Formats: sequence, structure tokens, C-alpha cells
Amino acid sequence: MPNKYHIVLLPGDGIGPEVVTETRKTLEALTSLFDLTFDFSEYLVGGIAIDETGSPLPDDTLAACEQADAVLFGAVGGPKWADPTKSVQPEQGLLKLRKALGLYANLRPVKIFPQLIAASSLRPDVLAGVDVLVVRELTGGIYFGPRQEGSEEAYDTLFYTRPEIERVVRVAALAARGRRGKLTSVDKANVLASSRLWRQTVVRLMTDEFPDVALEHVLVDAMTMHLIRRPADFDVIVSGNLFGDIITDEAAMLAGSMGMLPSASLGDGARGLYEPIHGSAPDIAGQGVANPLATILSAAMMLRHSLDEEDAARAIENAVERALDAGYRTPDLANTALPDQTIEVVGTRAMGEIVRSHLAQV
Ligand code: IPM
Ligand code: MG
Repeated sequence: MPNKYHIVLLPGDGIGPEVVTETRKTLEALTSLFDLTFDFSEYLVGGIAIDETGSPLPDDTLAACEQADAVLFGAVGGPKWADPTKSVQPEQGLLKLRKALGLYANLRPVKIFPQLIAASSLRPDVLAGVDVLVVRELTGGIYFGPRQEGSEEAYDTLFYTRPEIERVVRVAALAARGRRGKLTSVDKANVLASSRLWRQTVVRLMTDEFPDVALEHVLVDAMTMHLIRRPADFDVIVSGNLFGDIITDEAAMLAGSMGMLPSASLGDGARGLYEPIHGSAPDIAGQGVANPLATILSAAMMLRHSLDEEDAARAIENAVERALDAGYRTPDLANTALPDQTIEVVGTRAMGEIVRSHLAQV
């Protein structure tokens, strides 16, 4: 009997449905190559969920995610719901989901595809050898601390506990051990009390449990410089929620397009949430031009981290490489032709089909 996995699909808003559709078809195509099958069910999240139910994370969506082996998420938000005076926002659906599923570790790998080196605004010599994994704390910090919102004053609170710091740093350190053995912890310990606790906790944990992993501390403001000046020096970077949000957008620009970068959000069990790091791109939604590769690569992370199907994960990643090698690009990557190379610009569905045509047993 093949392994059967129950996957909840949350397409959401904007280009979410288009990229999730191509990813589901890609997962389905794996069933004829590997000994596995999928049982997909689709639920509402984000703006579309607000429109249909009043809530960005309806109860039945959360219940289904709690039962699933993994969740594949598209994107949420758009101008229709972007009124800051409204207390219900599409993004709350994603934040509540991360919190409710206990997904405290957000893995955002940034790898430069050599085929796309021209997509970045940085020089190729700066990008050579870049292979970074950012591990962002996802269910604590200023995103979830006490807050109050008034018309004259408002505050948010950056609050961390030692166990919250320890568990995410452990994920990052384990990842570093399996890679190049280097961990960079990012904080603002020269100003913030919560960052001083962060740093002390990191030092103690790494000394006790990971003496074999090289550790450095970098202040977040300096990190934003180093990341574009000497990105190849970093292996695994770990940080709190807000700093991680900011540096992962910056890190994404090393790769040139948000359209290529996947992510995984993990907790203590195998279940995870997988999503492209790009947003809902309302300006191009419904036009069939969105790049589905970040979501397709997120499905590869899902196969690896939640389903323990490493070969199938590799098959997807290799197929994406081959599609790029063959010169196919979605419009966001239209300017990436290397000298003496011709590229062909294709839409969302065609890119999905090209990837599927390159799937093969590893
Ligand atoms: C991200 C996004 C989210 C975040 C938003 C949509 C709430 O920016 O996943 O990085 O801030 O975490
Ligand atoms: Mg962000």
C-alpha cells in the first residue's frame, strides 16, 4: 500500500489559487513515480474567508488543519480588505493559524539559482556561493505580545520567554549541524531587554548542546548590511519574529525574485505549514502570469519535513532546475537571460506543466 497523506490546501486570495492549483497538480503527478498518494481538501482563509464567513480563519478551516499531515498555503490579503480602520484583516488568519498549530519555527532557505543570477540587483561576484537558511521565531515576540490600540496612544510589547527562545534556536542549531556548521544569532542586545535574554539563552544552549556548531551574534541593524555585502558568509541565521520578518524580505532579494522562495513553518510534531514567501500580488491576480515555483518548491519542503519523502522532494527540486535550465521563465524573471541564452516566457499553468514534464525518479 502506498503511503497516503492528507493535505489541506488553503489557496486564499490574489494569486494564491493559481499557484496552489499548479502545486496540487505537481504533487498529483508524483503519485505515478513514487509509492505515495494524496488526499486533498480545500478550505477558506484570508480575505475570501472574511467575505464568506466573517472570519479570516473559520473554525472548520482550523479544525481541518489540525487533522492534516500538512497544510499548503497560497497567500492572503489585497486592496479590498486593506482598510486599516477595520479590525478584521486577512493576515490575522495566517497569524492565528501559525499560533494555533504551534508552528514556532519558520524556515526560509535562500539559495541562488545560477540560471537566475541576473534577476538580482547585486553583482554576481557577491552572490557566488550564497546558501542561507533563515530560521525565524514565528509564534512569539512583538507579533503576539500584549498590545493596546487607541487614537492617541498605542503600544506593542516585545516579550520572550526562555523556553520560546530555546526551542527555535534548537531547530536552527540542528539545521546548522547538518549544513556548514555555523549559526548567526540576530538580536538588538545593545538596546532591548528581550534581546539580552535572547543572547544569554542562545549562549547557554549552544554551549550545553551544540559545542560543535560555530556561533556568532550580530545586531540586527548591522545584519541588514552584512546580508547584502557578504551574504555568502552566512549559513544558518536565527532571529526573533519581527527581525526575521524584515531580514527574510531582504534575503529574498539576494535571489532576485520573491517568486522563487519557499518556506516551512514547523512545530514539535511532523505537521507543518508550507507557503511561498511572496504575497497575494493583487496586481497580477487572475491573469495566469504568477510564478508558481515558490509554492511548488514549498511542496518539496513539505515532502521533506512533514512527510519524510526525501526522494519525492528532490524530484520536484530537480524538475524546477531542469525547467530553468531549459530556458523557461515566468514574466517576473523575464530579464534573466544570460549572454548567448534564449529564454521563453510562459504563464503559470505552462510553467507548472513544464515542471511536471521534468519530474523523474531520483
Ligand atoms: C510573512 C508576512 C506575514 C508576517 C504577514 C502577511 C502577516 O509578511 O510571512 O513574512 O509578517 O509574518
Ligand atoms: Mg514578511
